[in-house]
Amino acid sequence: MPKEVNIGILGLGVVGTGVAKILLEQKKLLTERTGVEFRLKTVVDLDWERDRGISLDGIRTTTDFEELVQDPEIEVVVETMGGIEPAFSFVMSALAAGKHVVTANKALIALKGRELLEKARECGVQFLFEASVGGGIPIIKSLREGLIANKILRIYGIINGTSNYILTKMHQEGLDFSEALQEAQAKGFAEADPTLDVGGGDAAHKLTILASLAAGGFVDFGSIPVEGITELTSLDINFAKNFGYVIKLLAICRFNGTKLDLRVHPTLVPGDHLLAAVNHELNAIFVTGNYVGDTMFYGPGAGQSPTASAVVSDLVDLARAILQPEGGYTLQMINPEKNVALFSLDEIANRYYLRFFTLDQPGILAKISGVFGKYGISISSVVQLETHGEKNYVPIVLLTHEAPEKAMFKALDEIKKFDFVRPDLLRLRLFK
Ligand code: HSE
Repeated sequence: MPKEVNIGILGLGVVGTGVAKILLEQKKLLTERTGVEFRLKTVVDLDWERDRGISLDGIRTTTDFEELVQDPEIEVVVETMGGIEPAFSFVMSALAAGKHVVTANKALIALKGRELLEKARECGVQFLFEASVGGGIPIIKSLREGLIANKILRIYGIINGTSNYILTKMHQEGLDFSEALQEAQAKGFAEADPTLDVGGGDAAHKLTILASLAAGGFVDFGSIPVEGITELTSLDINFAKNFGYVIKLLAICRFNGTKLDLRVHPTLVPGDHLLAAVNHELNAIFVTGNYVGDTMFYGPGAGQSPTASAVVSDLVDLARAILQPEGGYTLQMINPEKNVALFSLDEIANRYYLRFFTLDQPGILAKISGVFGKYGISISSVVQLETHGEKNYVPIVLLTHEAPEKAMFKALDEIKKFDFVRPDLLRLRLFK
């Protein structure tokens, strides 16, 4: 007889329903492949009116979370309710009750991961979150297992499908930002609050998780510099294209073994790089390990079935750990007690794309380039178009050689003070 593992789902929304569906539809296959019978015993949700398109016959449905926590038969809780509270309190109670927890909740891990992992450790249970980054892409398992021999040197992630969809539409079809956002929302992969997608917050949640895995200790989400894609115009997309680049919202982690350089921002990616070919809502995570070299993981980063597929992979890992409690199966790479330092701005240098609208008058370019010279910033390319849109203002676009972040910030502060420069200047970074 296969060992039975009883599962409770907390939150029967899009992802929770997907998990229930896989557990019901793939029951036999999962047992054949793992030697474990996964039994969905209880589902907790507040809304039992809505038709989810699945039959829950024989499964206990309730609005009371305590039924799940108090049930000694339930070994694993799947948290798919989302948000921070009450999800955090519920997960803490489930861990305290000795239950393993699997979640897809990236915000919860980014903001509360340390406490949750400490609690899991204290209670001798597992806390797993494969589905929290890259939807169906098995990136956490790959870092934990396939790449275990490597120091992770760099991670570049296109890990917000909504932003990637918008940028693809702007690049390929010349759509405006707002038109493309509306399309992305209609497709259903945007967050309830789309500012998390387009402002870079969702990618930063996921980067916190990836960087913590790479560094083996928790990274402070609040310390990550985050810039979104809301300031980009079709003009910038076209300039970038003409320079041979594609603009992508990248989550960047560069690790020297001691300190991390973490950032989320729109980035000019060379048109012939693999990441430049990741389009629409798809995600990709480009990982460089010191032994393996460059690798790339690509696939659907959101959606019911891909995300549920990742949740179920955690359930299988858990079942294996449950079957072999002494088996030394390493499921956790993050030490919640370890802090990892980030580089300061003084220590980071980048190449930049700068776009200004200035009055078309003699000496303006000289004044702007004079400021860059003062701060030791070398210009590698300049384009000025004769006219654009608003009368008297012309766009000037510069690409620079590598320059320290701090020098660039100071130079731009000075340039902003020129009365011939419109306040809406844009600073982007180039891929390196
Ligand atoms: N809003 C997210 C995205 C969903 O657009 O990628 C998956 O986390």
